[in-house]
Amino acid sequence: MLKLDRISAGYGAAQVLRDVSLSVSAGEILCLMGRNGAGKTTAMRAIMGLIPLMGGRVLLDGAEVSALPAHKVARAGIGYVPQGRGLFAGLTVAQNLEIGMRTRASPPDVLEEVLALFPRLRERYRQQAQTLSGGEQQMLATARALCLRPKALLLDEPTEGLQPSMVAAIRDVTLAMRAKGVAILLVEQRLDAVLQIADRVAFIENGRGGDVVPVEALARDRSIAARYLGV
Ligand SMILES: Nc1ncnc2c1ncn2[C@@H]1O[C@H](COP(=O)(O)OP(=O)(O)OP(=O)(O)O)[C@@H](O)[C@H]1O
Ligand SMILES: [Mg+2]
Repeated sequence: MLKLDRISAGYGAAQVLRDVSLSVSAGEILCLMGRNGAGKTTAMRAIMGLIPLMGGRVLLDGAEVSALPAHKVARAGIGYVPQGRGLFAGLTVAQNLEIGMRTRASPPDVLEEVLALFPRLRERYRQQAQTLSGGEQQMLATARALCLRPKALLLDEPTEGLQPSMVAAIRDVTLAMRAKGVAILLVEQRLDAVLQIADRVAFIENGRGGDVVPVEALARDRSIAARYLGV
């Protein structure tokens, strides 16, 4: 289980997150929704230790990952697919995946499992990341995170701007990871996509945690989302 216990964080002296608490269970997809600038990406950066916490704790299976230096957070078992993907553009598909494999010293069969999920990446194995299509780059960023054999996976708007076939491919892999017992925190802005994939939905507003609801409640009453998203 991934647990955020009253975390506060921001950039320099500018505080963005205030006392945000969330928990994502193994085998659960929790969607984080909120307006642009609400603090969704900031929450993911704070979990990964990429920005320092001003308060609170992040726990993975009860161990305090927020006590670790940033480079050890991924090693502890949290895969992160940042908004904008964060690939090494000049490196090949193989080299980008190798970085994921080394992070937690994954055994070689993990790479085979990941490539089985993304056959397209096998075809593009020796190509530079920057020569891939947007959808293929998203696959590569996701695949790299899976090479860690993560216990928790943070996906920041993974299907933004992708064509429908790619959106479906990313969704299928996300569901496959849930079935394997990974705790998934997903930032997704499109309500229809959230209703298809989420188990629960957590809202964030101006850096503060809002309602956390089962997806069925949101399907019955979309006005909850309208209140937070202003749509
Ligand atoms: N590197 C940064 N330095 C300073 N302020 C930042 C930085 N990145 C984000 N912010 C500010 O932090 C706040 C939250 O931004 P964040 O990127 O977390 O929002 P978000 O919910 O992910 O939005 P979006 O839906 O647009 O991705 C915003 O006010 C933003 O301007
Ligand atoms: Mg964001």
